[in-house]
Amino acid sequence: MKSTQLAHQLVSDRLEGGEVVVDATAGNGHDTLFLAEQVGATGVVYSFDVQKEAIRMTRSRLEEAQISNRVIMCETSHENLDQVIRAPHWGNVSAIMFNLGYLPGGDHSITTLKETTLTALRKALEGLRNGGFLTVLCYPGHEEGLEESAEVLTFLESLDQSQFLTKNYRDASASDNVPFLVLVQKRHIER
Ligand SMILES: C[S@@+](CC[C@H](N)C(=O)[O-])C[C@H]1O[C@@H](n2cnc3c(N)ncnc32)[C@H](O)[C@@H]1O
Repeated sequence: MKSTQLAHQLVSDRLEGGEVVVDATAGNGHDTLFLAEQVGATGVVYSFDVQKEAIRMTRSRLEEAQISNRVIMCETSHENLDQVIRAPHWGNVSAIMFNLGYLPGGDHSITTLKETTLTALRKALEGLRNGGFLTVLCYPGHEEGLEESAEVLTFLESLDQSQFLTKNYRDASASDNVPFLVLVQKRHIER
């Protein structure tokens, strides 16, 4: 199964409908559309991208499916997650999808960068509700992606596992440049 399909399966297994969720990298809009379908009419999706073209394509995909009213399009970097998503949604987010790298068919020089990705991941973990989760799809097959993937994996695997559960779906037999998926779930902690 491709990592993109695996990400969708992990998300659909964990959502019931009505949740607040985030697509941290809208791109061509496939993941945003998928999330909007999963949360249904009573849910909310925040969708981020730094590129106008990605925002335009995602919006048009949602309009075609007639579900754009449950999606808030955010033309800004995912480092600003916490500025855009406010209480009561902040701290109550059920799922955040990161599909790193560049826009397929677009300008490959506009890619996610390790520094901003790590900032966004730290903030994303704060915005999750207990039991909420992140999926992070890494692309080590290009120069920036190789370093970014290594740093992202180191960061996610270094999280306190009494608070988070990190699962790396990388196939140990696959070559080093094959995309891989990491899931991080925020544990339910009694307050
Ligand atoms: C691999 S694509 C995402 C694919 C998308 N999820 C889909 O379903 O089509 C990566 C996207 O991340 C965007 N991106 C790059 N840096 C970003 C940042 N700092 N904040 C948000 N999006 C960013 C790029 O513009 C690109 O559209």
